[in-house]
Amino acid sequence: FLRQGQPLGLGHAVGRARKHVGDESFAVLLGDDLIDPRDPLLDRMIEVHDQQYASVVALMPVPPEQVHLYGCAAVELTDEPDVVRITGLVEKPDPEDAPSNLAVIGRYVLRPEVFGLIDNLEPGRGGEYQLTDALNVLATGNGEGPILGVVFGGRRYDTGDRAEWIKANVLLGVEHDELGGELREWLINFTNGLKQSAIKGDQA
Ligand code: G1P
Repeated sequence: FLRQGQPLGLGHAVGRARKHVGDESFAVLLGDDLIDPRDPLLDRMIEVHDQQYASVVALMPVPPEQVHLYGCAAVELTDEPDVVRITGLVEKPDPEDAPSNLAVIGRYVLRPEVFGLIDNLEPGRGGEYQLTDALNVLATGNGEGPILGVVFGGRRYDTGDRAEWIKANVLLGVEHDELGGELREWLINFTNGLKQSAIKGDQA
């Protein structure tokens, strides 16, 4: 474990891990982005990295009104249906500046050269050192090698949003080996109660 010390941004946090990673590719998993283990993503990203020896980020289409919450990618298609070549990355763009509705979700498989790019970062969106800005150097062809995106179509829970965090607990809880049965029964009773009070409310 290491501590970031100060909240200076994701780029800074990843840069702090340099001496633990050394000179090899590594994965970054943001803890508030839960990917359902039934829909594997990281394995596919590592496969694409190994085939192309490129840095790889996970992308997911989001509604246009949510793009400002994420890093956003301009992309070109490749021969592989789930893989795109990234030609630009913008951190939390205003809707009118968003190059697409493909959001960076919290999984990255990065080549070690990214540390050099992080060293050269200037503060970006929100005054923070943004990993997105370092990766944009690769996207615009000014770094060593390309950057690719794996487009994810599976189940993801963004627990950085409070309501989504509660929903993720319920969705994963009802599937849980030990707790699922009890939770499902409780939820059915609870929602029946909610429906009854809604009906009474309508009649009042
Ligand atoms: C971070 C990244 C952003 C990415 C997001 C995914 O933002 O800076 O590019 O899209 O994670 O969850 P944060 O959510 O930490 O503000």
